[in-house]
Amino acid sequence: MNPEKKEIISSFEYLRKLFIMPDSPDKFIEFGHQMLETIHDFFKEKGGIHSSITLPELSRIFDETAVPDAPNLIKDVLAEIKLKVAAHSVKVGSPYYVGHMTSAVPYFMIILEMIIAALNQNQVKIETAKASSFVERELVAWFHRLVYNRTENYYQRNMQNPRVALGNVTSGGTLSNLNALLVAREKAFPPSGSFPGVREAGMEKALRHYGYDRGVILVSARGHYSIRKAASILGLGEQNVITIPADSKHRMDVRGLCRKVDGLQSGKGKNKTKIIAIVGIAGNTETGSVDNLPKLAEVSESVGTHFHVDAAWGGAALLVDECRTLFQGIDRADSVCIDAHKLLYCPMAMGMILFKNEKDLNLIKQSSQYVIRRNSVDTGRFTIEGSRPFDSLKPWAALKIIGREGYGLLFRRARDNTDTFQEILQRRQNFEILNSPELFILIYRFVPQQVKKQLYKWQASKRLSEPEKREVRKKIGKVNHIINALNIKLHKALRLDDTTFVSRTTLESTRYRPQHITVLRSCLINPLTDRSILEEIVKTQNRLGMELWPEFEPAYLKALNGVRKTFAGGRGEQEQGRWAL
Ligand SMILES: Cc1ncc(COP(=O)(O)O)c(C=O)c1O
Repeated sequence: MNPEKKEIISSFEYLRKLFIMPDSPDKFIEFGHQMLETIHDFFKEKGGIHSSITLPELSRIFDETAVPDAPNLIKDVLAEIKLKVAAHSVKVGSPYYVGHMTSAVPYFMIILEMIIAALNQNQVKIETAKASSFVERELVAWFHRLVYNRTENYYQRNMQNPRVALGNVTSGGTLSNLNALLVAREKAFPPSGSFPGVREAGMEKALRHYGYDRGVILVSARGHYSIRKAASILGLGEQNVITIPADSKHRMDVRGLCRKVDGLQSGKGKNKTKIIAIVGIAGNTETGSVDNLPKLAEVSESVGTHFHVDAAWGGAALLVDECRTLFQGIDRADSVCIDAHKLLYCPMAMGMILFKNEKDLNLIKQSSQYVIRRNSVDTGRFTIEGSRPFDSLKPWAALKIIGREGYGLLFRRARDNTDTFQEILQRRQNFEILNSPELFILIYRFVPQQVKKQLYKWQASKRLSEPEKREVRKKIGKVNHIINALNIKLHKALRLDDTTFVSRTTLESTRYRPQHITVLRSCLINPLTDRSILEEIVKTQNRLGMELWPEFEPAYLKALNGVRKTFAGGRGEQEQGRWAL
């Protein structure tokens, strides 16, 4: 760099002008334009969803091992961001990206992010967040009302009442679940007599005081792994998250839950167990299914335990009347979490945790002399996080700009896209659909038509002896194993092709239980996705799947012939026919 320029940018006066103040708007506008250009280029640029650069190549781009010494010009660093970062960022807003829960965001979110950064409020305390503390409380009240629908008078009394909190704004579903389970733990082991409560005394003393060997959380096998993280952080131990199998609709099997609860409460096992919480999911990460909330509420009430609903993914659908029936019973939950960066189309990352009882958060209230004094009105008294950004501005403004009606239109589009995707996959015949989507998530896998037919034929076979049934199960298992490998390879091929994206997961199959199957998972919430794009996505998957199949076919034929050998001969013509392709 020219030494004169270097001197200027190393001067205090230059650095002072980098800070937002009345005499710096020109530069701000100049660089703002540059930033918008970078953003537009990112969206306009053709090419892959993930960029073709390899991970080792990226590690060589970002290989500076020490903090830069000298200052650099903003325009140079912005150019570097464009070249090195934006060019290799994932185009999660692409309409061809129907994988994870991250989607396109409305452009006004960029403006809101700028306001948030410029105001730089710290939500922990009123001295650093004045109006923004009230915005946050208003937003939390809106969602509390959508979930619990208490009276107008209730919200007038409590919404801005600093002695209570209807909920917290968090950095996302993980923190919200942790917050809910922290409150559940306090309620499970409250102060009594000389015992000061679990918060002060810790888990070991709490269990001893109440005469338990362990405290557990019950959740469906489709529960998000953040529940396990919470159990570990709260000192309960991951082993004490008990998973209940899912039913054929990927919802918690209520009978399984009742059996487990009875077993834990009968005291027959050697461990005396406290059920700290039952967690329902609305909807789950892998399939979008919503648990049977009224039943789960009933069981929780009969046990007398905290009932938490993890609605991080699906909860925003409560905005729309036609989706509300799915969530029946949610108002019986003691706590509910909802994320803004999922179905509210906000950029990363913000969530909310809501409590039915406005006094519940008092159980975890903290104070400190220098930041959140005992009798202050600071939001930070109730939160796990300390310093927090004013992220609530994004959903708050989005709800004003888009409104419940607008979200209704967006969700209707997501519903239509989900139905359309399903119809296209079915028409192609080489795909097996593995759920009936309740909330815009469809799981499926590539299975060549003849293999799918064979699997269904095996499943439908009746009047088999026990050894024959065992043999059939074994063969189905073998074929599924082959199809799993095929789908893993297909997913890798799709990543290489990089024109479209769906995600991949492995879960216990409800159709081929207890086998785990690998599935492609699509999340169809991007409003820019349409039928022609979905046709292209399926066409690409079908083409690549068929190209890969010859590699797997010999193994399949071997598995198939094994069955033929076993059963041909010994049984009559009619039955032999059932094993044929
Ligand atoms: C059902 C559910 N709960 C919790 C989470 C965790 O949310 P976050 O990633 O915002 O922490 C997710 C994320 O996908 C989720 O789907």
